[in-house]
Amino acid sequence: MKTYRSFYKPLAIGAPTPFAEPPVALERMIHFVPPHIEKMRAKIPQMISQVDVILGNLEDAIPADEKLNAREGFIQMANENDFGSTKLWTRINSLESPWVLDDITEIVTRCGNKLDVIMLPKVNGPWDIHYLDQLLAQLEAKAGVTKPIQIHAILETAEGVNNVEAIATASPRMHGMSLGPADLAASRGMKTTRVGGGHPDYQVLADADGDAPRTRYQQDLWHYTVAKMVDACLAAGIKPFYGPFGDFSDPAACEAQFRNSFLMGCLGTWTLHPSQIGIAKSVFSPEPEEVKFALRILEAMPDGTGAVMLDGKMQDDATWKQAKVICDLADLVIS
Ligand code: GLV
Ligand code: MG
Repeated sequence: MKTYRSFYKPLAIGAPTPFAEPPVALERMIHFVPPHIEKMRAKIPQMISQVDVILGNLEDAIPADEKLNAREGFIQMANENDFGSTKLWTRINSLESPWVLDDITEIVTRCGNKLDVIMLPKVNGPWDIHYLDQLLAQLEAKAGVTKPIQIHAILETAEGVNNVEAIATASPRMHGMSLGPADLAASRGMKTTRVGGGHPDYQVLADADGDAPRTRYQQDLWHYTVAKMVDACLAAGIKPFYGPFGDFSDPAACEAQFRNSFLMGCLGTWTLHPSQIGIAKSVFSPEPEEVKFALRILEAMPDGTGAVMLDGKMQDDATWKQAKVICDLADLVIS
């Protein structure tokens, strides 16, 4: 039977070429909570069983005069709740803001043992990760934090996209990366006011066919960046995620955007509204029919080598690996 290659271990004789490590925990949705609002903090105990990750947001969408309340609210919600197997993350303010140093210091020293991941916005290059990495090491030692806090970067500046590979490998603390389409659009000078998703004017026109009206095909604005991010993450052994989808009135478009990123290799997405939790759960869990077919591939090639035909479709070592990715994810979903 074939085994996975660890990024840190030599290949076993006869092992396949490297491919994606199976995820160890589901992170299908990173659910954003505004911690300065008491009513929202009160909902945390019910939310814990519904989501894979709860994130206390301190950055954009929190008004400047509520920043300190959001930080205090986050520390309170971290210390007051038992999160069980649900992960606890926070998105701190960006490194260019006046709040970030106290965000990091207060959070690590007062609730560092409860925290799994810090999401760092507006990462421009590996130097941003190095700064946070060193600060975390010092604060963890000071506060006696026993489990290293991981770092998740938001890819949301043109400079960050340019440096994506160096960011992905900047520290052993790197957990993964999310696309930040709203800030990235602004940073690139894109002509949109949307938070993620498509744009009706970003399209190609089918060839003219006499006088018949020409068909217009809307294109995915984020395809290039998601593909670049997925490659950088998988090459570095870290995890890629889609980011926010801001139009809560359009669940179908939200689902389509999430699904594109799932098919492209992302493991999860952000959910900014409770209505998006179910969408993320279903999109980032493999379809039962897909799993059944993947299982047939694994069964048809027990040692993962050779070539067989299934329903007229050729299967070989490469599709065995594809099938293994789907079956590993299905295992996690049902376990
Ligand atoms: C998220 O932070 C974004 O800018 O899209
Ligand atoms: Mg942003």
